[in-house]
Amino acid sequence: MSGEPATGGPLRVAVLASGTGTNLQAILDGVHGSGRVEVVGVASDKEGARSLERARSAGVSTGVFAREDFPEREARDLAIAAWLEELGVELVVLAGYMQLLSDAFIRRFRNRVINVHPALLPAFPGLDAIGQALAHGVRVTGVTVHFVDEGVDTGPILLQRPVELTYTRPVAEVIEEIHRVEHELLPRAIELIAAGAVSIDERNPRLVRIEQR
Ligand code: GRF
Repeated sequence: MSGEPATGGPLRVAVLASGTGTNLQAILDGVHGSGRVEVVGVASDKEGARSLERARSAGVSTGVFAREDFPEREARDLAIAAWLEELGVELVVLAGYMQLLSDAFIRRFRNRVINVHPALLPAFPGLDAIGQALAHGVRVTGVTVHFVDEGVDTGPILLQRPVELTYTRPVAEVIEEIHRVEHELLPRAIELIAAGAVSIDERNPRLVRIEQR
């Protein structure tokens, strides 16, 4: 991300999603087709993923890169990268994509891949972040949108928002609130990138600058 104002057409975005795709839907409903952002492709590692149906309903191209067809992660990621480049994708959004991306893929799309994570990183990285936070007994958890680097949920943080855990609320309600926050924060992050408001500090690559407008 250069931080220069976006020029020309809308930011060309692809979403990788393994599951139900409610975050994908929030992107499709919130920012896709706004003139600033165009979702040009949705890919999954699961043939029957609900996210692919959502993409098709929105008239967006889909791709399936299943583990059965690509047992080696490197080969699978090469195929995904070729597909993304063919679509002219400028930003890759991971929205519940359950495969780790290879280092080569991350290098190829350096600072052009973001992820949404259901906790306040660096707390509770990896799988079942909501369950980890509840089991730990923290009073505040939340949502993080971050750039993806070679680690697991370790990349530079773009946006975060807290969610209080009162322990008097049913777990289902907590999960619902976290998803609601995700559905606001992820489209917002895409919007900021599309507006050219986001840059990574050259002297401290952990620091993501957001220009206030
Ligand atoms: C979200 O909770 C996201 O934070 C995590 O995977 C989940 C995907 O949910 N990375 P959905 O498929 O977007 O509904």
